[in-house]
Amino acid sequence: AKEPVRILVTGAAGQIGYALVPMIARGVVLGADQPVILHMLDIAPAAEALNGVKMELVDAAFPLLKGVIATTDVVEACTGVNIAIMVGGFPRKEGMERKDVMSKNVSIYKSQASALEKHAAANCKVVVVANPANTNALILKEFAPSIPEKNITCLTRLDHNRALGQISERLNVQVCDVKNVIIWGNHSSTQYPDVSHATVKTPSGEKPVPALVADDAWLKGEFISTVQQRGAAIIKARKLSSALSAASSACDHIRDWVLGTPEGTWVSMGVYSDGSYNVPAGLIYSFPVTCRNGEWKIVQGLSIDEFSRKKLDLTAEELTEEKALAYSCLS
Ligand code: NAI
Repeated sequence: AKEPVRILVTGAAGQIGYALVPMIARGVVLGADQPVILHMLDIAPAAEALNGVKMELVDAAFPLLKGVIATTDVVEACTGVNIAIMVGGFPRKEGMERKDVMSKNVSIYKSQASALEKHAAANCKVVVVANPANTNALILKEFAPSIPEKNITCLTRLDHNRALGQISERLNVQVCDVKNVIIWGNHSSTQYPDVSHATVKTPSGEKPVPALVADDAWLKGEFISTVQQRGAAIIKARKLSSALSAASSACDHIRDWVLGTPEGTWVSMGVYSDGSYNVPAGLIYSFPVTCRNGEWKIVQGLSIDEFSRKKLDLTAEELTEEKALAYSCLS
């Protein structure tokens, strides 16, 4: 039998946490033959709710679930974890300044970085979901210098999946037949959902999405803004954020990272920029990546037209500003 893998979920008493932990316990992330031990962290005001989630995990009698730790102690939560899904954070409340939200999250991610650095298993893989996701991941990277930078990522897979969903609806094709959309940049409204290189599997072979849609104005306008604003549209409809799809996409992110992307398919991940596509190095920026043997690699050599260039630069500028704001909170 395989040794259990320890998976940390922070903010586990929250909405995304509640959708995410049963998926993990069912084997959605690492497969139906991989036992898991769940580490769930939340803060003291949520301790009772967190314990309720633990009770439900016991009640669901998941065969793969070999243990559950529910704690408000960061060290206990981080000890020995192989995978960390960082969903906990401080939400922006009405009337709050951006700087104040940033400052709260910077201090959370700074201290959780230290705990992971000291106590997580070697080669622990981290994905940050909590907003501002890219910049939280950057802070985590800065304060966990012994964790390789390639192990620290943020979630833009939900945006990627939203783009696949929009194309599938527009063309009335199965979503599994659409591939290779790209989310560039920040997980925010400046992200650039790009279908220049996306394709659809048809009975007569793979066809480029731009040719099939044949409506440049829609692709450059409504399509982009729909994906960018989808989170707000869900909040408006549900009065709650998009927990189901965020949880599912976080599972996709980890699964593909660990088990690999299919041949000829790439996905979007927020990763530490090495300067590819003239994106400033030293930002956590969403790129198209392929994964193999537990490692991601930025897809190289894609053509970037003038329209795309502007969009890539705009979202990079926002991330550069966020980085400066985050650093100003540290001093
Ligand atoms: P939520 O408010 O329901 O849950 C957040 C949980 O984090 C709460 O239980 C809270 O007590 C906990 N928490 C706060 N500070 C913590 C700390 N220092 N350590 C551990 N836990 C802490 O929020 P929800 O809807 O689950 O969303 C979580 C985050 O994910 C938000 O920041 C949201 O903006 C973000 N998000 C990101 C998406 C993405 O695609 N990257 C998509 C949707 C949401």
